[in-house]
Amino acid sequence: MAERKKRIVVGISGASGAVIGVRLLAALHRLGTHETHLIVSSSGAVTAAQELGLARGHLEAVADVVHNVRDIGAAVASGSFVTEGMVIAPCSMKTLAGVANGFADNLLARAADVMLKERRRLVLVARETPLNLAHLRNMTLATEMGAIVMPPVPAFYAHPQTIDDVVDHTVGRILDLFGIEHGEIARRWSGLADEFGGRAARGVTS
Ligand SMILES: Cc1cc2nc3c(=O)[nH]c(=O)nc-3n(C[C@H](O)[C@H](O)[C@H](O)COP(=O)(O)O)c2cc1C
Repeated sequence: MAERKKRIVVGISGASGAVIGVRLLAALHRLGTHETHLIVSSSGAVTAAQELGLARGHLEAVADVVHNVRDIGAAVASGSFVTEGMVIAPCSMKTLAGVANGFADNLLARAADVMLKERRRLVLVARETPLNLAHLRNMTLATEMGAIVMPPVPAFYAHPQTIDDVVDHTVGRILDLFGIEHGEIARRWSGLADEFGGRAARGVTS
């Protein structure tokens, strides 16, 4: 029997940072290792339009398979549909609340619920600031169930020069969590000694 491509589910909800989900899909497409299954919430489509000027069609064009967020009977709604896991990037506090409390009222939350019940990898790129107690409690609940809460926080030690640098680093760290080899992270941390040596070599004095 021919070996099928591994699958990964990508959710885009209505938090700020639609670019992270879009760039993640593009990276997976480029790498060609996984079949991507995309679910965009209706607020996710709004933020993608507002932040990136991307219509839903353009957003979906980079995914292999697109599922309607209201299609609760889609393949990804069942644990018998085998996937490597799921990333929700960006993950709104509303979707986080649904996932953390098992309230699967749309396909995005249901697919995440499936990941947790099947003990598959679930990465929540949760974006909000500042955080209230409900956000923090829901992050704890999700973590206790096995999800990885990964806010898209810049790594300043990597000396990002542009927003693209920050986004690429976040996408790279998401791919790392799935053990996917990639080249999204231009410069990985290799120790303070290397860091100071490298900076001296580049003529940086402070
Ligand atoms: C431009 C814009 C930016 C938003 N940014 C955030 C955000 O960073 N985090 C968040 O939790 N909600 C944010 N929201 C609010 C969510 O979109 C809203 O709570 C929505 O109900 C989330 O639905 P969803 O989780 O089904 O996508 C934003 C809304 C808009 C219009």
